Amino acid sequence: MIVLGIETSCDETSAGVVRGGCEVLSNVVASQANLHARYGGVVPEVASRKHLECMLPVVLEALDHAGVTWRELGGLAVTNRPGLLGALLVGVSAAKALAYALKIPIAPVHHLEGHLYSTFLAAPDLTDQFPLLALIVSGGHTQIIRMDRHCEYQLLGTTRDDAAGEAFDKGARLLNLPYPGGPEVAALASQGDPARVLMPRSYLGDTLDFSFSGVKTALRTFIARDNGKTNLADIAAGYQEAIVVMLTRTLQRAIHSTGIKTFCVCGGVAANRRLQESMKAMAQAEGCRLILPDTQLCTDNAAMIAAAGWYRLQHADSSPLSFDTLAVSPLALATISS
Ligand SMILES: Nc1ncnc2c1ncn2[C@@H]1O[C@H](COP(=O)(O)OP(=O)(O)OP(=O)(O)O)[C@@H](O)[C@H]1O
Ligand SMILES: [Mg+2]
Repeated sequence: MIVLGIETSCDETSAGVVRGGCEVLSNVVASQANLHARYGGVVPEVASRKHLECMLPVVLEALDHAGVTWRELGGLAVTNRPGLLGALLVGVSAAKALAYALKIPIAPVHHLEGHLYSTFLAAPDLTDQFPLLALIVSGGHTQIIRMDRHCEYQLLGTTRDDAAGEAFDKGARLLNLPYPGGPEVAALASQGDPARVLMPRSYLGDTLDFSFSGVKTALRTFIARDNGKTNLADIAAGYQEAIVVMLTRTLQRAIHSTGIKTFCVCGGVAANRRLQESMKAMAQAEGCRLILPDTQLCTDNAAMIAAAGWYRLQHADSSPLSFDTLAVSPLALATISS
């Protein structure tokens, strides 16, 4: 079955076409990052209006790139939660209208479920390799999820304050780097020595939870006291290293406590080279299989939504057109009970 996916949860208008749940035929992403850069973050009203402008052209481009006609589409998938409500509504309205007009089934997809399924696009054979541990590291979430079968999610750990991507973005602001900050911090850090500025790491007892507020405060305090003496690249490298080590060690503890030997890292921060190196080294030391999505599928895109939707439609989870759109919703609630 060929599925058209639509994603508008934040500041990317995206449409993607996926065949058989694993073959990406097209993935068009219209980013609004430049539009929001002057505000230092996403302005919801501006994002919604831009989605309205871009939605139809992006869908048409995705079909064109895929070489697929309307009639060849077997299903639709759309991000309906969580995200900016006004932004989500643009994508959901477009997808519902298309599903109605084309008389094809539609699957509402949880945005984090989409990030998770970017892993299955990178490793289609994973489809019968459960259980699986997933570290989702994105702009708004940092979670460790256990999957025992498709579309079933158990939350093992989450952040108590900032998400990892948020920590990168806020750190970037403290370092006077532009928005979006993650790639900027990573680029600066690649020129620095991570051992020169040691930042604190937080571990929350026996839990698999995360906290990044301490390292963020440490960065702020360091910059204020340092008075420009230390090379900014070394500061960025030390800051990035603390985030990477916290993520790696906590995931390693999840591997020890569950005994699960297959894991993936997904979401925007999974594009971070230093994090990838650290996870690869840990996977090798633990004798685990690590799956990393293609870099362009780490940040928001509709191919991952189409892939997740394909699996949901295989589980006969086609929804009536009355399904809701939600700003907040835990991933565990997206589980399909068997
Ligand atoms: N190379 C990188 N290094 C570190 N962080 C990065 C890198 N590339 C992207 N990021 C971060 O990833 C985040 C964007 O990821 P993503 O698009 O998945 O987040 P989001 O969709 O805004 O949030 P969520 O998925 O939680 O709703 C931003 O915080 C960005 O700074
Ligand atoms: Mg995202």
